[in-house]
Amino acid sequence: MCGIIGATGGDAVVETLLEGLRRLEYRGYDSAGVVLQGQGELWRARAARGTRSLEDLRRVVDGAPGPTAAGIGHTRWATHGGPTERNAHPHLDCTGRVAVVHNGIIENYRLLADKLAAGGHQFSSDTDTEVVAHLIEDELSGGVALADAVRATLRQVQGAFSLAVVCAGEPGTIVAARRVSPLVVGMAEAGEDGAAPAAYVASDIAAVLGHTRNLWALDDDQVVELRPQSMRVATLAGKEVEPVALQVDWDLEAAEKGGFDDYMSKEMHEQPRAVADTLLGRLLPAGTFALDELRIGPAQLAEVERVLVVACGSSHHAGLVAKYAFEHWARLPCEVDIASEFRYRDPVLDSRTLVVGISQSGETIDTLQALREARQWGAPVLVVANVVDSSMAREADGVLYTHAGPEVGVAATKTHLAQLAAMELLALYLAQIRGTLSPADARLLFADLSALPGLVGETLERDDAVAEVAARFTSTRDFFFLGRHVGLPVAMEGALKLKEIAYVRAEAYPAGELKHGPIALIEPGTVVLAVATRSPVWEKVMSNVAEVRSRGATVVLVANDGHEEAAAEADAVLWVPGTHPLFSPVVDVVPLQQFAYHTARAHGLDVDRPRNLAKTVTVE
Ligand code: AGP
Repeated sequence: MCGIIGATGGDAVVETLLEGLRRLEYRGYDSAGVVLQGQGELWRARAARGTRSLEDLRRVVDGAPGPTAAGIGHTRWATHGGPTERNAHPHLDCTGRVAVVHNGIIENYRLLADKLAAGGHQFSSDTDTEVVAHLIEDELSGGVALADAVRATLRQVQGAFSLAVVCAGEPGTIVAARRVSPLVVGMAEAGEDGAAPAAYVASDIAAVLGHTRNLWALDDDQVVELRPQSMRVATLAGKEVEPVALQVDWDLEAAEKGGFDDYMSKEMHEQPRAVADTLLGRLLPAGTFALDELRIGPAQLAEVERVLVVACGSSHHAGLVAKYAFEHWARLPCEVDIASEFRYRDPVLDSRTLVVGISQSGETIDTLQALREARQWGAPVLVVANVVDSSMAREADGVLYTHAGPEVGVAATKTHLAQLAAMELLALYLAQIRGTLSPADARLLFADLSALPGLVGETLERDDAVAEVAARFTSTRDFFFLGRHVGLPVAMEGALKLKEIAYVRAEAYPAGELKHGPIALIEPGTVVLAVATRSPVWEKVMSNVAEVRSRGATVVLVANDGHEEAAAEADAVLWVPGTHPLFSPVVDVVPLQQFAYHTARAHGLDVDRPRNLAKTVTVE
């Protein structure tokens, strides 16, 4: 996700912007930029990773002309348009007298861009954000104030945004607004932050906490008009409102983690947003899909006769869930390979095999090499990645981006859930192309998909209950994770989390396979975690649970709310809300993430940087 900052007044607008961008760097960025507002003009500097860094930006900005009344800055995590200087924010209107920085996704930007282009506007980037600058330009041409122009503009915009705007005609004024994406406002009185009073706006507290603790949070569809000594907040309709004051007792480091103890827990709590943003704008009311960056057209996809998924780790588990979706919804045979194995099995592919690479980084060398091998067979390659223009995204025939934002913790959490959502989208889209899913049936499923972020949020709120269960097993050094159907990849992901952050041995096994050998390991005290949420094979899972309980195992179940018969068969239950069985991994994996997290914390381990692991494995 992107970071935005704005400052007006005070004695060091430029330094404030650069320091704020550095504080936002942890959010991950592929480009950055600032606009400084002098007396009657705007001055812009931008830097894209790989060409220039924030340090370079500082040097460029040091050459800025004259005194600066106000300024806005941005660190970009690309979603629409590649991570280039051309796409770096701030974006300008045609006259260069309006500048905008934005965090979020504008769903209807193509429609707005077409209308603006028809009105003679010239675009200089591939981003969704730039349409906002041109819309404000049009509104300002009617002689209104910047705040009114911004409100009129945002009444036309659909989607998520937190944004800040300056214009050459109003020195010292910053107008900012939010919908879904967070935005905080700060006011430093004279003397608090240097000699002169100042006002700030930022996408998160970390960027301004060093200047003031007088902070407010904007609510959805609120617009703030900021000057060094004044703040006016109003609705999109212009009705003045009181913003919510924030009581912040964090230090700066805690602020960068959003007040969480570590990035992993912060990113677990970003999972509802990650799923929502991955679905945003892609499920159309008509029961059809808008996967416009896919680049592989429906005609070619209609020729596909089988799907092969290649991935590693948590991404491989997402692929295993997707297998059920491809086969159930699209009636497409689907194989899922561990990428490092795929390349050496002498695979047989052809142009009718759709090869799907899943990789949050888009750089995992095993997966990258597997996709290169697949292309040599003439197979169309589609990548589900979280990093725009990553190596895999650049080399693939088509891309479906997840919009989880940067993930700092080595253990995949929000990117995994975003992958699950993206793969369901892909399977349903293929089903519609193949005629095995009607728009009417799709609309019913869209309701279930759209409810997932809320269900994930509800599950996250049960963290204390999971922590209590985890606390009972902190001395356990060996776990069995059982599952069937889509519950098996959930069990595999839960076992991986426990291994990689708590360093505890955990084996995930198909529940139906236990009787073919491993049940010999079950003895009194063996701890078994079983995924027993509603699925076509729920009764069978429960009979497998009974088998291990009768041999003395201690059983922890992941079970659906209200499934009291599950509780009767378990020593502890991790309750989750129910959803469509094929979508249930998005929810069911959450308590297993939490279980691993609390176990690791109980062992005093660093959950963000586990030993021996790297966030991206770029060596074979
Ligand atoms: C999962 O928590 C690990 N970080 C690891 O297994 C990861 O999923 C795997 O390395 C694949 O990474 P990718 O999604 O970036 O390709």
